[in-house]
Amino acid sequence: MYSEKVMDHFKNPRNVGELEKADGVGEVGNIKCGDIMRIYLQVEEGIIKDIKFRTFGCGAAIATSSAVTEMAKGKTLDEALKLTNQMVAEELGGLPPLKMHCSNLAADALKAAIEDYKKSNNL
Ligand code: FES
Repeated sequence: MYSEKVMDHFKNPRNVGELEKADGVGEVGNIKCGDIMRIYLQVEEGIIKDIKFRTFGCGAAIATSSAVTEMAKGKTLDEALKLTNQMVAEELGGLPPLKMHCSNLAADALKAAIEDYKKSNNL
C-alpha cells in the first residue's frame, strides 16, 4: 500500500528535530486525525539553509514531513512556497488517497514557517 520511498522516509526520517534559533516556525494540525506538524527554518539571504521538523502523527505524516524538508532545503523562499502537496506525494512515489491530507499537512507547515519568517522580517 505504501511505496518503498514512503517506508524509507518513515523508517529513516531526514531532518528530524528542532532549531533552537529558528528564523521561522510553522505549525499546522489536522482536526480529524489530531496529527500535528511543526517545521523550523533557518534562512540566509533568502535561502533555506537548514530545516527541521517535529511531527506527532501517522507514518505518512512523518514520511511527508521528511520529504518536504529535503525538497525545501537549499531552495529560495519563493521556490519553497511553490512546493505543493501533490509534488510531495509524487516525490514519495504516490500516497494512498486516504493519506493525501498528510502531504497537505507537510506543504502547509512549510508555508506557515515561511510566512512566519516573512512576517517577523517585514517581508
Ligand atoms: S492521518 Fe493525519 S496526517 Fe496522516
